[in-house]
Amino acid sequence: MDQREDYDHLQKAGKEHLWMHFSRHGVYDDAHDIPVIVKGDGMYIWDSRGKRYLDGLAGLFVVQVGHGRHELAEAAAKQASELAFFPIWTFAHPMAIALAERISTYTPGDLNRVFFTTGGGEAVETAWKAAKQYFKLTGKPNKTKAISRQIAYHGTPHGALSITGIPALKEAFEPLVPTTVHVPNTNFYRADEHAGPAVTSWFADGRASSGETAETDRPAAGFGDDLEAFGRWAADQIEEAIIAEGPDTVAAVFLEPVQNAGGCFPPPPGYFQRVREICDRHDVLLVSDEVICAFGRLGDMFGSNRYGYVPDMITCAKGLTSGYSPLAAMIASDRVMEPFLQGSTSFAHGYTFGGHPVSTAVAMANLDIIEREKLNEHVRDNEGAFRGTLEKLLDLDIVGDVRGDGFFYGIELVKDKATKETFSDAESEKLLRGFLSKALFDHGLYCRADDRGDPVIQLSPPLIADQSHFDEMEQILRSVLIEAQGLL
Ligand SMILES: Cc1ncc(COP(=O)(O)O)c(C=O)c1O
Repeated sequence: MDQREDYDHLQKAGKEHLWMHFSRHGVYDDAHDIPVIVKGDGMYIWDSRGKRYLDGLAGLFVVQVGHGRHELAEAAAKQASELAFFPIWTFAHPMAIALAERISTYTPGDLNRVFFTTGGGEAVETAWKAAKQYFKLTGKPNKTKAISRQIAYHGTPHGALSITGIPALKEAFEPLVPTTVHVPNTNFYRADEHAGPAVTSWFADGRASSGETAETDRPAAGFGDDLEAFGRWAADQIEEAIIAEGPDTVAAVFLEPVQNAGGCFPPPPGYFQRVREICDRHDVLLVSDEVICAFGRLGDMFGSNRYGYVPDMITCAKGLTSGYSPLAAMIASDRVMEPFLQGSTSFAHGYTFGGHPVSTAVAMANLDIIEREKLNEHVRDNEGAFRGTLEKLLDLDIVGDVRGDGFFYGIELVKDKATKETFSDAESEKLLRGFLSKALFDHGLYCRADDRGDPVIQLSPPLIADQSHFDEMEQILRSVLIEAQGLL
């Protein structure tokens, strides 16, 4: 087959046989091809036509150390030839043990026990199940509910999807797992819009019930510039929800250090400290969902370290192996683990491929690179430059807000910058799906235009990015966003 035939065959087979994730298959026809990525090296990826793109999203918030690292391929090959597979169901293998021990040296507090899964959604699922059993074992069997934030994404298994706070992603699969409750997130850009129903419960039959929550500590005139007051209010919404549901029914609160969906909401100062106090007061477990935020994304091995709080459990995935092999984990504190150590108790939960030998070997080699190349320090030293470069875009009318931390940023697009008016669903559809996603890609930048909340462009490059890459991102974004403004 020559190159043209190769390309045509890939497209035909892809369109006829591959079921892509979160994809509208109806858009692929003779005139619209599937973008097929064939190679990666450092900060760049190449498609099957040979065109190069800057990877502004590290694949999917994953490839921390960059593409094309032979060292990681070699670690995988070495482990596969020694012991390709063995489960960690009552047996163990050295790499799973070594990695669990190593992870426990990076975690905050006494989070010393590592339960491996294959993906982030499974880790979230695991945390919820562990929380439920923990309370059954400690004499509080009715503590089963999970609280999380509006627009937050926590994965697709039924439990994790229930915890997810994006109604549009859930509708097709209801009824989901009862009962989860969703509270406001920490979107400071739109802080003053918070009013009315703040808490939503999802019941087994898919009904949503909303109740007014007290506007604790919320100034009548809004929060103005007072980020800390907003943080107190947002944290207090969690307490309101716990009290409304009944503290004896709530098992866990799931929060990302920086919430991704909606476009990178960092925590206001003091937010997590207050949430910690609230969780302690009501004996509710705090789960830090660090599927994106761990392993350097925020310049620390864990986001909870960066923001100075100690959760009861951490869920992590993606950057643990930089995606060279699938692996994720739920990490529990000694206190959570303690009742599982007694007598004949066991956590009847697991995955065939959780803690896979090849993936754990790759994770060890990946962590070697993160440490040897001081990637956490690199992110901390360069995050200001990344932010500063992206903030240049604020001179465009369409750019309402630039927010994030570390190498993790969201750029919110608005219809009217003065009033912060956002786009209608139809406009957002036209702007994001009809124009931006393709235009950015055509201009050589792979990133994500997302409208799970208000329309945002998400950037989360490999942690090896430097000023030249920040500039390249800014320049491509600038020219495409100027074009987008012309369409409005
Ligand atoms: C915060 C968070 N939790 C959970 C998940 C689900 O992870 P996975 O896709 O590996 O199941 C994601 C995925 O992006 C995530 O961002």
